[in-house]
Amino acid sequence: MTDAAREPAPREPAPRAAATPRIDVGFSRLSQMVFGYWQAGCLFGLAEAGAFARLATAGSPASQLATELGCDQVALTALLDAGVALGLLTRDDEGRYGNSALAARFLDPASPESLDEWVRTMGQWFGSWSRLGQWLRRPESASDIVGSGTGGADERTFILGMHRYAERTADDVAAVIGLDSSARRLVDVGGGAGTYSLALCRANPGMRAVVLDRPAVLPITRECAALAKLASRVSAEPCDYRSDEFGEGADAVLFSNVMHQESPETVVSMLVRGRRALRDGGTVLIHGHFLDESRTAPVFSTLHNISAMLLWGAGHSYTVADMTGLAETAGLAVERAEQVASAKTTVLACRPVLARGGDPPEPPAVVSRLRPA
Ligand SMILES: C[S@@+](CC[C@H](N)C(=O)[O-])C[C@H]1O[C@@H](n2cnc3c(N)ncnc32)[C@H](O)[C@@H]1O
Repeated sequence: MTDAAREPAPREPAPRAAATPRIDVGFSRLSQMVFGYWQAGCLFGLAEAGAFARLATAGSPASQLATELGCDQVALTALLDAGVALGLLTRDDEGRYGNSALAARFLDPASPESLDEWVRTMGQWFGSWSRLGQWLRRPESASDIVGSGTGGADERTFILGMHRYAERTADDVAAVIGLDSSARRLVDVGGGAGTYSLALCRANPGMRAVVLDRPAVLPITRECAALAKLASRVSAEPCDYRSDEFGEGADAVLFSNVMHQESPETVVSMLVRGRRALRDGGTVLIHGHFLDESRTAPVFSTLHNISAMLLWGAGHSYTVADMTGLAETAGLAVERAEQVASAKTTVLACRPVLARGGDPPEPPAVVSRLRPA
């Protein structure tokens, strides 16, 4: 027997059992939160560059897209590749990029379900969110955009963006509002594109609505009413809702998604003028996102609250109890508070308890609770 034959054969490493992957849920959640804005940033960047609109017509290589969209090719390629990774875009074997099914449905401006304006508005608001640390120490730094009425976004992009987002659930909101079939006149204060006026007029064939908003918004409102074939029943008139009266003889005055833009004092003043605009037996309706009474839920409303404070200066989100207190101060009793499941919003229906000329009682206790001195 040779020495070599006596030596033990080298041992094969034993195959190791595949380790069960350990997911640290806490670390994953934190990472998702921290990196979340990178994903949103790619989406905003592609939308702002016009990539989804351009790719709706034909797939193209990055070089051609960079020339047509006026972008740096290296930078655009990085964004397009991230878009592919995020499922917003596709890339074929020849390196041509195209819209994914998700982008074709929601991000192509020509799609009937397009949310292009809404995404671009959120992209414009991202500028304010990125200055959150500065706002925390100097809240008045938010006030440079307050006057615009758009939270600092482009007028048309903002109004159409809100409309495209809200119209997906507007008929559900109209169903929860449930106006009586005898209603003839709705006043929609700060109604924007008229999203809810259109839905409520669809639900109530005998009713007409007037949208009151800033003058720059009104052509967009009229355009949306014409597109919905309701131009003869949904009109638009200029109004500064902080100071103007809202007319008279209304079956319902609607404040939808406007109260979070305003201070408690302004909310009371708007509600008083809303009450004055009603016919006998009419209803003031308040619709929007509300905080739970804990003010720590739902998550979306806690974030919406920060957005309101960042974008509108005096604004912030309210709880149903806050709003009930403000309504009482304005001479209104909240008779019903009902959630709209699909929109994750709430409708408050209020009846006057003070006569039309009645003055609201003083002092408005809830105002000082919401705005500590
Ligand atoms: C978030 S949008 C809500 C639009 C619509 N009510 C809805 O629920 O979709 C806020 C609206 O308030 C309007 N607005 C802001 N300040 C205003 C003011 N001082 N007078 C009248 N409208 C105003 C904006 O132009 C915009 O249409």
